[in-house]
Order: sequence, then structure tokens, then C-alpha cells
Amino acid sequence: MLKPDAVENGHIGGILDKITSAGFKIVAMKYTQLSKRDAQAFYAIHKERPFFGELVDFMTRGPIVSAILEKDNAVEDFRALIGATNPADAAEGTIRKLFATSIAENAVHGSDSDENAAIEGAFHFAGREIF
Ligand code: CMP
Repeated sequence: MLKPDAVENGHIGGILDKITSAGFKIVAMKYTQLSKRDAQAFYAIHKERPFFGELVDFMTRGPIVSAILEKDNAVEDFRALIGATNPADAAEGTIRKLFATSIAENAVHGSDSDENAAIEGAFHFAGREIF
């Protein structure tokens, strides 16, 4: 996902360019907005965290871009491309270093395993929307 902060700050094009230039193929994509229920479900794993309410409010405050990306070693390579959760700790040239503003408003989300990538892809897309 390209999160609401990235969309608000005009970074859709810049982030997609970094993603495709790094060799990822976009196999599904949409411009959409999460409901509270959507965000609570997507981030259910974090529901006991103190920042859960803030996270849901942030992720629902404006449109996002969701996508499914394909590449060999995609999960690991995408996490390297986006950088650390906190942009202050993210390596130079990473998407979060370039485009994120804080640990909460960190511009992008990447799946943390192939299993979660499949679950998260199915959360956003119907089968006929995946190419
Ligand atoms: P993401 O990789 O999408 O996974 C969980 C999200 O929770 C994370 O990116 C941030 O947007 C948010 N998050 C993580 N840590 C914090 C924190 N300490 N305070 C607020 N939000 C956080």
C-alpha cells in the first residue's frame, strides 16, 4: 500500500517509479480508501498495540494505492527497497527515507512474508483484478 500520507504529499508517481525501476512487476493495482472496519481487519495483528487507534485513523483518513507486486524474492527485496519502519532509521535511497515523515506516517506498507502477501493481496483484490 501507498499510504494516505504518500498520496496527500503527491508521491504516488515517485514511489511507483522506484518500485518498477527496482524490477517489480505490478500485477494488481487500485486507488481506494479503507473504511475503519477494513483498517482494523488489515492491521488486526497490531490491535493490542498502543498506537492501534492512531494507525486506524491514519490509514482511513484519505485514499491509498494498493498493489500486488511480483518479483523473485519479492518480500525481502521490497522490504529492503522501502527501508526501516521509522524513516529516521531508513537507509539512504530507500522509499521511506525519501518519502516518509514519521514512524506512523511512513508512506508505504510491505508484506512481511509470502503467506501474509497472499492474505493481504486477497484482502484488496478479487481474482479477476489480478493479472
Ligand atoms: P506498517 O509496516 O504498515 O505496519 C504497521 C504500521 O503501524 C507501521 O507500518 C506504521 O504505520 C505504524 N506504526 C508502527 N510503529 C508505530 C508507532 N510506534 N507509533 C505509531 N504508529 C506506528
